[in-house]
Amino acid sequence: MPRHHQIAIDGPAGAGKSTVARAVAERLGYTFVDTGAMYRCVALAMLRSGLTLDDAAAVGELAERLQIEFGPLQAGQQPVSLDGQEVTAAIRTPEVHAVVSPVSAIPAVRAALLRQQQAYGEQGPVVMEGRDIQTVVLPAAQTKVYLDASPAERARRRHAELPPGSGSVGDVEAAIRERDARDSGRANAPLRAAPEAVHLLTDGLSVEQVIERILDLARAAVRAGGSR
Ligand code: DC
Repeated sequence: MPRHHQIAIDGPAGAGKSTVARAVAERLGYTFVDTGAMYRCVALAMLRSGLTLDDAAAVGELAERLQIEFGPLQAGQQPVSLDGQEVTAAIRTPEVHAVVSPVSAIPAVRAALLRQQQAYGEQGPVVMEGRDIQTVVLPAAQTKVYLDASPAERARRRHAELPPGSGSVGDVEAAIRERDARDSGRANAPLRAAPEAVHLLTDGLSVEQVIERILDLARAAVRAGGSR
């Protein structure tokens, strides 16, 4: 049993994980760790240093050296800094998006970030969000939630966030299906739920309903003896 309460939230892109996980952390006063943002930081550092996906070993070494830090949550937003420089917006550009999935498939990158993620889990109560948190990063987490939504619903949500002229909902859905296949099909830490995870299908649920459901699970885990 971990010393502190760990809440692991996994699921595919567009399931609404980030919004919900951030809100849960804010309401409980726990640290929030967006592991996708950490992979995005490595992707950004790779692009900035002129490395390419062909230089897997060098990208792995780069990931070892990076200082990724999360600022305190403020009104649902969390600043991210990379080697002391704020990169909150820079890690969400199309250029980073285009390379982050293959960057996250490099075993040395995953090993480097795994160590940092597990250290966060040891420091205090945490809400950690990603693809392999409940199975690989925090396998002893007291609260495990697998958030999902149908590809059509996820495409509608993503499309609504994109600038006008970014393509049709159908294009977004095709890209989502392709990325799901890549994230769940890889050999190293594929996207999957732990057998004991609570599955939440968020189609038709409001953000508030999903947050409340997770807070109920978190409170039950604390009552059952998960220390904080
Ligand atoms: O959640 P996101 O879109 O910010 O994630 C960015 C990429 O990182 C995505 O391709 C999946 C990958 N990722 C991962 O492989 N493992 C995690 N724990 C989190 C994200």
